[in-house]
Amino acid sequence: MEKHVPVIECADAVKADELLEVKVTIGKEIAHPNTTEHHISWVAVYFLPEGEKFPYQIAKYEFAAHGASVQGPNTSTVYTHHAVTGWVKTGKPGTLIATSLCNIHGLWQSSKEIKLK
Ligand SMILES: [Fe+2]
Repeated sequence: MEKHVPVIECADAVKADELLEVKVTIGKEIAHPNTTEHHISWVAVYFLPEGEKFPYQIAKYEFAAHGASVQGPNTSTVYTHHAVTGWVKTGKPGTLIATSLCNIHGLWQSSKEIKLK
């Protein structure tokens, strides 16, 4: 799979009042670089309920450490890894949408359908 596409991992179906654990990773099979010059800046997750026009934003995760320090680029040992886990209760079936921003290659998107049990 392409190294920029966000990969959504969660249950295919959930009860209306149940919390859904949603994991989003970038480049699950081919690792995306994580350097001061080239990295994933953030991941956002949205939910579009079935039959509705507009999605709801669930979360946004910003990745702030990419090896930069007062000494210059790639001089620290600290790098935020671009993988996140969050929880959501949707109450309805619909579509989870994840977007990720690479500072060089722009915005990427994927989606996953969620059914109600
Ligand atoms: Fe990239």
